Amino acid sequence: MQEFDWKNDIGQKEEKRKLAERIAKRVRNGEVIGFGSGSTSYMAVEEIAKRVKEEKLSIKAIPTSQIIEDLCKELGIETTTLDIEKPDWCFDGADEVDKHNWLIKGMGAALYKEKLNIKQSKENYILVDYTKFVDKLGEKHPVPIEVEKDKVEQVEEEVKKLGATKVEIKLSNVNQGPLVTDNGNYLLYAWFNHIEANLEETINKIDGVIENGLFIGYNLILIK
Ligand code: A5P
Repeated sequence: MQEFDWKNDIGQKEEKRKLAERIAKRVRNGEVIGFGSGSTSYMAVEEIAKRVKEEKLSIKAIPTSQIIEDLCKELGIETTTLDIEKPDWCFDGADEVDKHNWLIKGMGAALYKEKLNIKQSKENYILVDYTKFVDKLGEKHPVPIEVEKDKVEQVEEEVKKLGATKVEIKLSNVNQGPLVTDNGNYLLYAWFNHIEANLEETINKIDGVIENGLFIGYNLILIK
């Protein structure tokens, strides 16, 4: 059993496949593209791989998780990293989107690299099926926070001071111990009734926090 099964465990499968086909059409020969994570992104990689194969395109992917990197290898898409190249554009999924295009992302534990890609790219496409739209950010999902292993308890306390109504450590589906991210850290889930514009920045200032899953004020193009 693996931690995330983005290939098979998919809600809104048909809608996500259409989003994946649409973003695959955006690919041009020679581009460096940031590849997001999650089931929608997984399908997008499959659709892009079809075009790469059929049209003999030469592209490079900057993957945001080990699963997506492995998929690229399996499907014959060359990969690179942000240390070496910058993306021409990126695509990714989201867990929630509100009317300002603020997002919660990272329920697939890949938020650290997802945010790095989005920050490095001027053109970011977010693939969202109808279940992702919310009136109020945080109404369906917690904010995932990637935390250094030995700072979990102190971060938990600080996040509660910021108004979180509940903070819990994300457990692994595989062994029921804490989930360990691709970067070797733990993940906290913090539930908020109200999310202010500065919360993303404020959480990141806490000692021990690597990154959080709020994406507030980024220039994003929604594909819906
Ligand atoms: C991965 O860490 C996430 O940010 C995903 O992009 C998000 O959870 C959306 O996932 P689905 O495409 O599986 O709905």
